[in-house]
Amino acid sequence: MAKKFITELKRTHTCGELTLAEVGQDVVLMGWGMRRRDHGGLIFVDLRDRAGITQVVFNPQDAGGAHDEAHQIRSEYCLALKGLVRRRPAGQDNDKLVTGQIEVVVEHFEILGPSQTPPFMLEEWVEVNENVRLRYRYLDLRRPEMFQNLLLRHQAAQAARGHLNGQGFLEVETPFLTRSTPEGARDFLVPSRLSRGSFYALPQSPQLFKQLLMVGGVERYYQIARCFRDEDLRADRQPEFTQIDLEMSFVCEDDVMDLTEGLVAAIVEAAGQTMPRPVPRLTYAQAMERYGLDAPDVRFGLELIDVADLVGDAEFKLFKEAVAKGNMVKALNGKGMAGLSRKDLDDLTAFVGTYGAKGLAWVKIKEGLEWQSPIAKFFSAGHQQKINQRLGAAEGDILFFGADVPKVVRESLGRLRLELSRRFELTKGKPLTFCWVTHFPLLEYDPEAKRWVAMHHPFTSPSPEDLPLLASDPGKVRARAYDLVLNGSEIGGGSIRIHTQAMQQRLFEALGIGAEEAAEKFGFLLEALTFGAPPHGGLALGFDRLVAILAGQPSIREVIAFPKTQKGTCPLTGAPGKVDQVQLLELGLRVEKTS
Ligand code: AMO
Ligand code: AMP
Repeated sequence: MAKKFITELKRTHTCGELTLAEVGQDVVLMGWGMRRRDHGGLIFVDLRDRAGITQVVFNPQDAGGAHDEAHQIRSEYCLALKGLVRRRPAGQDNDKLVTGQIEVVVEHFEILGPSQTPPFMLEEWVEVNENVRLRYRYLDLRRPEMFQNLLLRHQAAQAARGHLNGQGFLEVETPFLTRSTPEGARDFLVPSRLSRGSFYALPQSPQLFKQLLMVGGVERYYQIARCFRDEDLRADRQPEFTQIDLEMSFVCEDDVMDLTEGLVAAIVEAAGQTMPRPVPRLTYAQAMERYGLDAPDVRFGLELIDVADLVGDAEFKLFKEAVAKGNMVKALNGKGMAGLSRKDLDDLTAFVGTYGAKGLAWVKIKEGLEWQSPIAKFFSAGHQQKINQRLGAAEGDILFFGADVPKVVRESLGRLRLELSRRFELTKGKPLTFCWVTHFPLLEYDPEAKRWVAMHHPFTSPSPEDLPLLASDPGKVRARAYDLVLNGSEIGGGSIRIHTQAMQQRLFEALGIGAEEAAEKFGFLLEALTFGAPPHGGLALGFDRLVAILAGQPSIREVIAFPKTQKGTCPLTGAPGKVDQVQLLELGLRVEKTS
């Protein structure tokens, strides 16, 4: 009787390790059958586990009946087998596989788990509708690429823990069932059964608790923390996502930024990549000026250049009026991009239109730096020459112009910059490029709510030198806040916090949060700040975003085991789902309407 797999016959090797060194050995492998090929009496199956692929052969001459039963094997059957490692016949090597010089001749095998025909092929990967992938995520995860993503995420988490442990940080867990923690998104609410009519809010981040930990004397805290935000989803946003969250006492901006650089470098190294240090720093004002966006991709130029002083007296009415009104006129030089067709330019005009731009003036630079453009006739030779000079224009370039209020010009040209880089593959092969953005405004005006809101969160300390402006010109007050940007993506943000009750109350006032509301929502924090709160600050890294970039993946969904769709649903479990009337009754809830 052959021995039973798993209880008696243990796996001896993975499918990713057998080489010529093991030829002649008896081995036991377990994994999933991929391709079955029947060739001249022999049956070949590629056996895959998370480590790799090994070719196994069923030989009709072998005793034991394995060959006959091998006809049953289909894609994704879970198999265990015992066999002999042998060199592949001459000419049959596969140099793409570590195991490509050997094969295992099966003596005996067992189907541990048969499989239905999978809804998509796991090998020879072709793009499959993401909903189908998510519906059968457990199959999708069997793909080597997905396993690599999970492995990288694991290694990154371990590297982060290792680094922070070495720096005296304590890993502390904070509650999920809590009160609202304002990070600018909507809360996910959880109704309480024991206190009917009351709700917990899932934390948008551990912000308040980590500050309380500092008041509690923990000094250095971190957590790989799940955060919950009910906001519109995008490729780099999920309703629940993970932060490497940290907080430190007795520190200023440089301390947190240095610590973070060390932490991110450790993670990047664990991913087998390198992080150039020190990381360059830009102020928010510089980022907006040069790149139009607060998370600039600094891997390429195409910087926004002010030309208002050069066009105010030209014939072109649109620019002239913009300048007269005190609006912004900026340009960027698409180096060597004059080959863009009329259709491309129409597309780009429509593209900037989605960011509010009313048009997109362009000028192609011809031989002798001559302008070719519908608007060329409105600019004298002198104007053209000065603009050429400022933009460093050369033959084959195309200049783009935006004239409008600053917000529209910055955003539309900032996005145009990214779109051009995408079309012309300007970032292809570029190394990881980090930058810090510092000195954010403390507040921004929300025209819909008609009030000032915190740009980071309401616990961020204002720059002391700007404090006198808090009442007179709130928009000018800068915050002690900093963001870490990688390849144009915001991968982290933090700040030095307010640590006195008086200042915290002052800020709530500036935000239009009255004393009563502040006491009701954040009374516990205000109170804690009166018990010898230490100066403190911290930051949170968007772990999913960082890992996605390190894995070279376009969406954070690729590095999350069980992500939600863009609509916030889970095709696998069917969440969110309806609940029982009884459950609702217990909670004292009634659903009014469903859509
Ligand atoms: P912030 O809101 O900037 O700061 O979040 C920190 C980082 O988390 C990532 N991130 C997200 N990732 C995926 N999906 C989302 N919906 C999402 N939202 C944010 C971003 C971001 O940089 N408590 C503060 C941190 C602090 O002040 O210490 C906070 O949460 O990469
Ligand atoms: P018009 O005079 O409206 O035909 O516009 C002439 C050129 O200016 C066109 O290429 C428009 O796309 C462009 N244009 C229109 N409005 C703006 C604007 N606000 N900023 C930059 N270019 C614009």
